[in-house]
Amino acid sequence: MDKKDLFNIAKDAMKHSCASYSNYNVGAALLCKNGNLYKGCNIENASYSLTNCAERTAIFIAIANGEKEFEAICIVGGKNGVITDYAMPCGACRQVLSEFCDAEFKVYVGTDENNINEFKLADLLPYSFDKSKLGE
Ligand code: THU
Repeated sequence: MDKKDLFNIAKDAMKHSCASYSNYNVGAALLCKNGNLYKGCNIENASYSLTNCAERTAIFIAIANGEKEFEAICIVGGKNGVITDYAMPCGACRQVLSEFCDAEFKVYVGTDENNINEFKLADLLPYSFDKSKLGE
């Protein structure tokens, strides 16, 4: 499973996006360290703030299925499903990913399978708030 595979799986996950309000469709493909894979999409709601992003959908499904260790995620998105730019994860998703993924966890964003950018989670959320602040 390489980043191109993850990109194509994330693109496939976009098909299930429920984005009736923003029309910005997002798909995510989350790879676990054990090789298992989970797809997610954004799910909007008429009560806008209840919207769930694609990345959080993917990681919540994975955790609910017993997954504990995560390798990488690929996120793709675009208005009306057309990918023209990188779909960078929002702040809320960076925070949620950092709760369950280590600093080396890779975040891929791409516009096509030959144009994929790679980030480390720690670089996307420096100086984060985490459980160490709670004395855990
Ligand atoms: N969205 C995601 O799915 N992931 C992000 O990291 C950023 C935003 C979704 C939420 C909403 O359905 C739409 O994109 C527009 O904000």
